[in-house]
Parts: sequence; structure tokens; C-alpha cells
Amino acid sequence: MIPSNWTLLEDGEAVALEARDRILNAANTAIRERGCFRIVMAGGTTPEQTYNLLVPEDSKWDKWELYLGDERCLPADHPDRNSVMVERTLSSRVPIPQQQIHPIEAELGPEQAASRYSEIVTNAMPFDLVLLGMGEDGHTASLFPGHSHPEEKLACAVHDAPKPPPERVSLTTRALVNSRNILFLITGEAKRNAVSAWLDGASLPVTEIAREGKHEVLIDQAALTCPK
Ligand code: 6PG
Repeated sequence: MIPSNWTLLEDGEAVALEARDRILNAANTAIRERGCFRIVMAGGTTPEQTYNLLVPEDSKWDKWELYLGDERCLPADHPDRNSVMVERTLSSRVPIPQQQIHPIEAELGPEQAASRYSEIVTNAMPFDLVLLGMGEDGHTASLFPGHSHPEEKLACAVHDAPKPPPERVSLTTRALVNSRNILFLITGEAKRNAVSAWLDGASLPVTEIAREGKHEVLIDQAALTCPK
């Protein structure tokens, strides 16, 4: 059995379509109730299809505020930057005002960028929705197993990340769970071991967030070993 807040879908495309719908619903609710939609975007490759699917949709884009859950310490225009992926797939294609797009200035280096981003997100919480992926080792954002993170901070410097590049900036658990909802997008066979560990109660960055934050999981068949 999978937890009741997990939704098992056939494949990555079905996950992306469902994620699009849930993001749009969250946006409509937030804008109706509070006049803006504060969303933390996931990095990596899994969410790209979802971001592409959002582009044709009719949303009040001028009410969206985009944040990032983590960033790689690379030049601001580097193709491997999460900010560049979000811009390529979504924010360059919909009319979100530039001043409402908040990249992590990871090109400044992990410590300075983390300090500056902590200030930026201080006034943005609680977020309306935090999108997160999960790595094969159970990491999420740039919170990696075996790494310690200063929980009093909202954003932290990451060194020696096992997933290149080694230097990153990440929102901490404290910031990531300060959200009205968290949506994990997990697809592909490579995530099976981490999913199994999660379901078996392992202590991982992803499970720490799941334990502390209101969350939902969209997962495809390939990522789920035979259902428990
Ligand atoms: C990053 C991401 C990272 C990602 C997972 C899953 O900077 O790489 O923030 O946390 O979400 O590693 O990556 P994929 O979606 O590419 O499998």
C-alpha cells in the first residue's frame, strides 16, 4: 500500500499532466484568497515537462512569484543552472513580471548566495506551493543524505554535493516545509530504491520534509517497486 497522499500514475507524462493541474489549482486558490501565488520551483529534469505544460494555460501570471528550492553554483547563464531551466521551460514564455522572479544568485558562491536568498525568502513565507524532485539517494533540493544543514537558516551553502556540481545553495527543511502544500514529483526506475527506503521509514532529506510538511506525492509506476 502507498500512503493516501500519494497518487500513482502510469508514466512521466501522466505525472506531468496531474502536476500541471494541481499547480494551476493552487495558483487559482492563492490568487483568489491572497492576491498572489508564491511557488518554489523544483530543479533537475523531472519537472521540465510540467513547466512546459503550464505555458499554454490561462493563469493570472502577473500574480505569480517564482522562487527556487535550490541552485547550482555555476555562472548565471550556464545551461545546467536550475534558473536557466525554469526560464527556458516557463518564465520566458509566460508574462510573469521579471521583478517577481527570484533566482538564487549562486554565481556569487554558496555562502554569499545563501545569505542573500535567506533575506529574500524571509518575507515570502509561507509559500503557497513548494515543488520538489527526489534524487536516487533520497536527496531533495540540494539537501543530501549525510550532510548537516544549519536549521536556523532559511537557505544554506552546500559543499561536496555528490550530484555535480559540488557547490550549491539550497533552501533548508525549515523553509521548504513553511508552505501551504508541498508536491513531490517522482518518476523513473532510477528512483525505486529511494522510494522503497522512504516507504520503509528510512531517515532521508526527503522523508524529513515529508514528516514535517503537508505534502502530496505524484509518482509513476516505474518509480514504484511492486506496491507494498
Ligand atoms: C538539482 C535538483 C535536485 C533534483 C533531483 C532529481 O539541482 O539537481 O534540485 O534536487 O530535483 O536530483 O533530479 P531529476 O529530476 O533530474 O531526476
